[in-house]
Amino acid sequence: MKRIALLCILVSSLPVLAQTKLNLVPAPAEVKMDTGNISININTEIVLEGSGLENTASLLNDYLSASYGFKLKVVTKYSNANSITLNFERSDHAIPGAYNLTVDKKGVYIAGDNAEGVLYGIQTLIQLFPVQKKGPLSIPQLSITDYPRFAYRGMHLDVCRHFFPVDFIKKYIDYLAAYKFNTFHWHLTDDQGWRIEIKKYPLLTSVGGYRNGTIIGRYPGKGNDSLHYGGFYTQDEIKEVVKYAADRYIDVIPEIEMPGHASAAIAAYPQLSCFPDESTQTGKTPWAGTKEGKQVQQTWGVFEDVFCPSEYTFNFLQDVLDEAMPLFPSKYVHIGGDECPKEAWKRSPFCQQLIRDNNLKDEHGLQSYFIQRIEKYINGKGKKIIGWDEILEGGLAPNATVMSWRGEEGGIEAAKQNHDVIMTPGTYCYLDHAQSKNEDSVTIGGYLPLEKVYGYEPVPAMLNAGQAKHILGAQGNVWTEYMAYPSKVDYMIFPRMMALSEVLWSPKEKRNWKDFERRLPAILDRLDKKKVKYSKAYYDLQATVIPANNYDGVLWKLESKIKTEKIKWANDLHHDPVAKTNYDYTKPIKITKQATYSAKIKNSNPVIQEFFFNKVTGKKITLINEPSKNYPGDGAFTLVNGVQNDKGLSKGNEFLGFLGNDCEGTIELGKMEKIRKLRFHCLNQNGSWIYPPKYIEVSYTGSLTAKRLLRVESPLEIKDGNIIYEIDLGAETQMNAINFKIVNYGIIPSGNPGAGTAAWLFVDEIEAE
Ligand code: ACM
Repeated sequence: MKRIALLCILVSSLPVLAQTKLNLVPAPAEVKMDTGNISININTEIVLEGSGLENTASLLNDYLSASYGFKLKVVTKYSNANSITLNFERSDHAIPGAYNLTVDKKGVYIAGDNAEGVLYGIQTLIQLFPVQKKGPLSIPQLSITDYPRFAYRGMHLDVCRHFFPVDFIKKYIDYLAAYKFNTFHWHLTDDQGWRIEIKKYPLLTSVGGYRNGTIIGRYPGKGNDSLHYGGFYTQDEIKEVVKYAADRYIDVIPEIEMPGHASAAIAAYPQLSCFPDESTQTGKTPWAGTKEGKQVQQTWGVFEDVFCPSEYTFNFLQDVLDEAMPLFPSKYVHIGGDECPKEAWKRSPFCQQLIRDNNLKDEHGLQSYFIQRIEKYINGKGKKIIGWDEILEGGLAPNATVMSWRGEEGGIEAAKQNHDVIMTPGTYCYLDHAQSKNEDSVTIGGYLPLEKVYGYEPVPAMLNAGQAKHILGAQGNVWTEYMAYPSKVDYMIFPRMMALSEVLWSPKEKRNWKDFERRLPAILDRLDKKKVKYSKAYYDLQATVIPANNYDGVLWKLESKIKTEKIKWANDLHHDPVAKTNYDYTKPIKITKQATYSAKIKNSNPVIQEFFFNKVTGKKITLINEPSKNYPGDGAFTLVNGVQNDKGLSKGNEFLGFLGNDCEGTIELGKMEKIRKLRFHCLNQNGSWIYPPKYIEVSYTGSLTAKRLLRVESPLEIKDGNIIYEIDLGAETQMNAINFKIVNYGIIPSGNPGAGTAAWLFVDEIEAE
C-alpha cells in the first residue's frame, strides 16, 4: 500500500518538476514534459491542416527570419516529422484563444480552438526557441494545454501627452501579441494633442495636434522647452494599425475623450467651449508662445475648459464618431468621462438652464446626461461605450462598461449594478508609476514594483459569482507625460507588462510569484536579445530606514536579490561615492548623526541616502489618524526617519498621504530635551490635488509649561513643490513630548484641478532643533 502511494506521488510530481525548467510567460494552464528534444531547422515545414491560417504561418516565418535568419516552407500536407502542423481542435473553453501544443517525435502540432488559439500556440512555441543568433533550434518534447482566464486582456497607450509614430505602435502591438494580450486601448485625444484625423474638422489635427512647447522636467516644470511638438495619425495610418493588430487577434479600442480633457479640440474649435471668447487659463505653467485665445496645453493635469454640452458640441462629437467608428471594427468605443471639472458648467448660464430643463440634480447629473446622450448615439450605430469610473457619477449610462481606475470601488459598484467592468486600478495597473524606490528616471509618481503587479487579483473578493462574471479582465495603463520616447515606454512597461500578462491569462491557481522570479532572468534575457530596454528595478538594492532599538537613532537596512554579490557600503560621502564603498554589509547600519551613506552591489547603481539628523529623528511617534492606504509610507515612523524628500511624488513612498483628514499625533522624546524650533515638511502639488496644510498646531509637555499651544499658518520656505513650516518657540524650551496637528486644507477651491473635492495632505518629515 505504502509503496503504491509513494509511486503515485513520484509520478504525479514528475511533470511539475520538469515543468519548472520552462520559462514561459504567461505560464500555461498545463504542461507535461517528455524527455528529449527535437530540432526546428531550415528544412522544417509549416503544415497548414486548418484552413485560413496562412497569415498566422507567415507571422511565424517573419519571427524566424527576424530572429534567426531563416524562413520555413509552407505546405498543406504533412509528409515527415520535421514539421510544425497548424490545425484546429474544438475545446470547451468559453473564452476564445485555447490551444494545445505538442512537441514529439512526429514534430510540432499546434491546434487552436480558433485561429486566435493557433497564434497563441505559436507565441508559446516562439518562447520555447532558445535565445541564440542562428538556427537550428532545439526545443523540448512536451505537451501543453492552455487557455485564457479573462476575456479582456488589455494594454493602453496615451499618444497625446507624447506622440508615437506608427512603427512604434506596431511594435507595441507585437509586444501585446507576444504575451497574449488581446486589446489595445488607444488614447487618441486629450488636452495636449488631438491625434486622429477627422476630415470634416481639419483643424483638430492641424491646430489641435500641436503645442507650442512642453514643460521641462517634473510637473509643475522647471521651464518650457518652447519646441513646437505634436503629430497625428491619418485615417489610412489608423486602418493600417488596426489591420496589423487584427492579424494578431488584437482588438483596437479608440478613446475619444469627453467631456473633459478637451483643450486640444477646443483650441481647434473654440465654439466647443462654454466660453469661446475666454483665453485658455495657463496659470503658473511655464508657457511658450502666445497665451491669447484657446491653446493646446503645454503641461499635465486637469483643465477647466471642457466640452460645453451644447447642440454644436453634440453635433461635432457625432460627426467625429461617425468618421472614427468605421475605422475600428471593435464593438467598443471608449468615451473617456474621467476628470471633468464642473467649474465651467457651474458658471455657464446655458448649462444651468440645461440642468433645469432636463430636471437634472446638478453638474454631475449633467455629466451623466452628456454620457447617456453619447451612449445612445453610439448604441444606435451598433457599438457599446466604455468609460472611466467617473461615468458612475450622476447615474450610469444603461449599457456602459466601466473602466475602474480610481481604485476598485467603481468597478465593484458597476458590477453590482450588472454592468461589465475592466479593472485598471492605479495602485496595480498604472505602469507610469515608479518601479524603483532608488534614483530613477522621472515618473509621475506612485510606486508599483513588479511583484505588486504580479500579485494583482482582478476579481474583488466581495463580489458574488454573478457579479464576478462582469469583471471582463484588466488593463495596464501607460500615460506618457514622462515618456517622451519609445525607449522610455519600453523601460516602463517591461517587465511589469509580463507580470500583468500572467494575471490575465494564467489560471488563478497557477500564479506563483516564486516561479515567476525563477523565470525572470530568462524572460529578461529574451528582451536583451530583442534589444528592448527594460527596467532592472527588480534587482535594485533595496534600502529601507527602520526604527532602532530604544528609539536610539535609525537603522539603514539593505537587501539584494542577487545573493551571489556582496553589498558594499560607505558613509560621509562628498565627492566620489563609488570609490569609498568599502565595507561589507552584514547587518542594518545604525545612524545617529547627520551623514550621507551609499551602498552598492556589483553592476548596480549606488543607492545614496542623506540622513538629516535632529532631536526627533528615530523617536517614538504615534498617529491618531491612519494615512490613506494608497500613501502609507512606512507608517508614522516615516515622519521622523531622517529622510527628507525633495523628489516630490516620484518618491511618493516617503510621504504619508491624508485624503481630506489631518495628520495628528505625538512624538515622545524619551527624556527632557531643549528645543527651540520645529519644522514640518509638506508637499504642495495642486495639479495632483495635494495642498499645503491650512495650519499646523503644536503643544508640548515640559517641565515648566505644560501644553503650551502654538500655531503656524504661513510657510517658512517653498522650494519647488516642497513646502516647509516652522514654529519658533523664541528660546530653547524643555520638553519631553510634542503633540502636533497638521490640518488638511479642506475642499479644493474652484479654478483648480479637483475643485470641489477633498484635498490631499502630504507630510514627509518633522524636524526639531
Ligand atoms: C485616468 O487616469 N485619468 C483615467
